[in-house]
Amino acid sequence: MKRKSQLLILFAIVLNIYSQQIPAYLNSEINIDERIEDALSRMTLEEKVAMCHAQSRFSSPGVPRLGIPELWLADGPNGVREEIVWDDWITAKQTNDSCTAFPVLTSLAATWNPDLAYEYGKALGEEARYREKDVILGPGVNIYRTPLNGRNFEYMGEDPYLASKLCVPYIKGVQTNGVAACIKHFAANNQEINRNSINVNISNRALHEIYFPAFKAAVQEGKVWTLMGAYNKLNGQFSCHNNFLLNKVLKEKWQFDGVVISDWGGTHNTAEAAENGLDLEMGSHVTVVAPFTPGVYNSFYLANEYLKGIKDKKYSEEKLNDKVRRLLKLNFRTAMNINKPFGSINTTEHSQVALSIAEESIVLLKNENSILPLDFNTIKTVAVIGDNATRSFSKGGGSAGVKAKYEVTPLAGIKTNFPKSVEILYAQGYNDKSSSLKAELLKESLDIAKRADVVIFIGGLNKNANQECEGKDRASYDLPYAQEFLISEIKNVNKNIVFVNISGSGVAMPWVNNVKGALQAWYMGSEAGNAIAKVLTGQVNPSGKLPFSVPFKLEDCGAHSFDSLAYPGNSTDVYYKEDILVGYRWFDTKKIPVNFSFGHGLSYSTFEYGKIKANKTLLQRGDSINISLSIKNNSSVLGSEVVQLYIRDLKSTFIRPYKELKSFHKIKLAPGKSESVDFSISESDLQFYNDIDNKFEAENGEFEVLIGSSSNNIRQKIKFKLQ
Ligand code: GLC
Repeated sequence: MKRKSQLLILFAIVLNIYSQQIPAYLNSEINIDERIEDALSRMTLEEKVAMCHAQSRFSSPGVPRLGIPELWLADGPNGVREEIVWDDWITAKQTNDSCTAFPVLTSLAATWNPDLAYEYGKALGEEARYREKDVILGPGVNIYRTPLNGRNFEYMGEDPYLASKLCVPYIKGVQTNGVAACIKHFAANNQEINRNSINVNISNRALHEIYFPAFKAAVQEGKVWTLMGAYNKLNGQFSCHNNFLLNKVLKEKWQFDGVVISDWGGTHNTAEAAENGLDLEMGSHVTVVAPFTPGVYNSFYLANEYLKGIKDKKYSEEKLNDKVRRLLKLNFRTAMNINKPFGSINTTEHSQVALSIAEESIVLLKNENSILPLDFNTIKTVAVIGDNATRSFSKGGGSAGVKAKYEVTPLAGIKTNFPKSVEILYAQGYNDKSSSLKAELLKESLDIAKRADVVIFIGGLNKNANQECEGKDRASYDLPYAQEFLISEIKNVNKNIVFVNISGSGVAMPWVNNVKGALQAWYMGSEAGNAIAKVLTGQVNPSGKLPFSVPFKLEDCGAHSFDSLAYPGNSTDVYYKEDILVGYRWFDTKKIPVNFSFGHGLSYSTFEYGKIKANKTLLQRGDSINISLSIKNNSSVLGSEVVQLYIRDLKSTFIRPYKELKSFHKIKLAPGKSESVDFSISESDLQFYNDIDNKFEAENGEFEVLIGSSSNNIRQKIKFKLQ
């Protein structure tokens, strides 16, 4: 016993000596800010400047001399991108970098399920950690201002509240793995046309009420560790070094303590990059065709020119130190985080997460005569028609594309999940080579449609150029490749058509009266086909709700109701003339009917909404109103409903949208069961941004709570007064 205690004492002494020897910045027992100061004090000016810009396409240097590792970044929001070569956009052709392809973020938004958003982030973060990435470049939360934006599929729809409620848990899930999430693209990158140079002219009110909230929630609630600047200018200055956006709003007002990363090539000059809040410059100069040019990274704006400027006292060294403090903090949170897990990749758990999100994201748009779920007592032959039935969507579409370990296509999912007794026929119907139909493709389709009891048409967009991909906007709101014509021809031989629209944004649907059933599916990744098939058979009861409105025609949209300066702008500027009236805020206020509304989604169940009960109808400032109502599943199948709460300001000095989403609950109910759903309304839910006094405020007066199963299907209302 004596010997053992002697050994323990000896060990304690050694440990004590050791702990006093290791430098503070390497001692994880010490407060992170002290570690940062210690590291900073040991760094040379050259090492500090080097840390502020890339050393390769997707990495930035640490300080080898001090044992501070480099940081590795990877796309993207719905999966960990394959390895790219050191200094070009081409694949490294590795064989060990396939990943789970998760559904795109619009798909996640359509679930209206914050718990799933957390699972999503956690699984993605595990794959990023396993691949030794310190930053995953997502989520994207740019608002869906126009259906034509090429990257809508990467974002979370038209409503800032929905995007806020889903990006926060996603970020938390990612960051539990010691991997930084990266909220992007800040701000107002809502189109791809001229994205690298266009100057977005936008009001302070529209920024604070529509375009900022998801970013603010990511910072203040999600505690996101990095943020990516947008390519475009905002009110005259490039977003990646925009003093108003990055210094005034993000770092001073919102107290962001993380790292601002430029979009790749989004940095344009040293003076602004030095002073306006950019911390890490990525992707400048290095063009697609330029293979590794020795020293190319020294030509970055925050490289040699910046170093010289610091030495000449042209730029503030204190601002440089602020950048480096943030970068060191990011490093301690990720690469140097000794508690970070090992991660995991391509696991069955991740596949299950991908499947659950996909299943809950599918939106049942229409279900005439309950054609869905398919009744296999009467359906013996199914004709599957459409090029999208056999397509994989995980790759392509730009930086969010991934090399999926596997992807179940819709046709494969149907073959797997439909009863073995059902005969499944397939015809491509159309292809992406021409905008008119090939005679033989048409004939093949009609031949199988004639033989079938039901036609499952699987069409939509396909992430090709102008069909939703980065760098380009859609050429039209219509379905491409003459799909509408094909549907009308099919209807002449078989009226039992179910349309599965695969896309990341709304499309014109003049044909929707020609089909009995319609589903909005998404680019849903590895488990896409299984999710679609399970909704068609009824193994899954659809519960998705649209995260954006689907107008009858493009011209009905706010962004398309003015001149071309409102969209896509001229060669230099675009003006957000619809201001705060984006999406349903526009259609409601202007009383424009839409084909399918924001928040719309049917179910195989039906839900009854009880009367609203409120504990008061006079709201004092600083107080809250508790509202509850019972929701009953009066069907024979288990189902989930998203109960949405909107607020309307009945009288206001400033123009306000007719109503705005301020809360929602997704509830699962067994057949015949009912549940009380509770909401709490306080003054902050009633506010608008007064851009004369530059603050959020709510005016006294009468308001209305509107509760419904979609923005257009309000089931209960109640009025109250703010005093
Ligand atoms: C791209 C995208 C951005 C992506 C980055 C790296 O241009 O705008 O979202 O993360 O560059 O690929």
